[in-house]
Amino acid sequence: MSSFCRLRRTLITTCVLSRCHYHILMYKTNVRHLCMASNLLKDNVSSNVWLQRQRKDIYVKQAGKENYRCRSAYKLLQINDRFQILKPGHIVIDCGAAPGSWCQVAAQKVNSICSYPSAPKGLVIGVDIQNMAPIDGVHLLQASDFTVKETQCKITEILQGQLADVILSDMAPRATGLKSHNHDIIVGLCFSVLRFSLNVLKEGGTLVCKLWMGGDQPRLENAMNSVFDNVRFVKPDASRDDSAEVFILGRGFKHSLQKHPQENS
Ligand SMILES: C[S@@+](CC[C@H](N)C(=O)[O-])C[C@H]1O[C@@H](n2cnc3c(N)ncnc32)[C@H](O)[C@@H]1O
Repeated sequence: MSSFCRLRRTLITTCVLSRCHYHILMYKTNVRHLCMASNLLKDNVSSNVWLQRQRKDIYVKQAGKENYRCRSAYKLLQINDRFQILKPGHIVIDCGAAPGSWCQVAAQKVNSICSYPSAPKGLVIGVDIQNMAPIDGVHLLQASDFTVKETQCKITEILQGQLADVILSDMAPRATGLKSHNHDIIVGLCFSVLRFSLNVLKEGGTLVCKLWMGGDQPRLENAMNSVFDNVRFVKPDASRDDSAEVFILGRGFKHSLQKHPQENS
């Protein structure tokens, strides 16, 4: 075979191979684009469902009228109407506070804005991993992960040796499609709040902690029972029926025991 023929054959082979690579590459790109399009479609469908639900929701409308930052305000208002946990002069720590509706409710109820000059003035500390716009009467620790030691030290610095009357947690991780995984993470957050409570909650104090129902609920309930006189699960009307969300409420903190909750029981 002449060198010209050899060169021609090599060129043809290279061309055929590069066309194959090109097709494989195009195929992969198309599959990737199809997956992206389907994810976008799914996101779009679920955000449309979310938007429709928001438009119909009475608590969303009420929150707009009453200037609460989100509908969650009514969950705390309803828990408080039923159990009277927030009183003027109270010191409250709100974990997972953004965008801030629980802080708004707490600030009104404990009189940290001093709306009632004759009533005792309370203190509200709001903590969130996200940034938040300022709220009247609330000491905010934003961009702060509650579970890290530094954040908890900052909270105790603000308390200046005082103990809290009420600790609230509406903390929630970014939910994944795996319910049991979401449950494990949120229960971990609850335990972190419970451990922190042992050092900063007043005798007789209250803890309200959000969780998503699941298999570890009894373990958390047992741990709460070892340090509170009264423990119960609460689902306020404002908490959507189709959500696994419940609140564990511990009242009558037994401070003198100083015992660590039995996480493994
Ligand atoms: C359901 S939202 C709270 C809504 C709030 N109660 C209100 O009424 O505006 C849950 C919040 O928990 C926060 N969060 C989740 N993990 C956290 C963590 N480790 N430390 C602090 N905040 C956290 C999220 O950033 C989110 O803002």
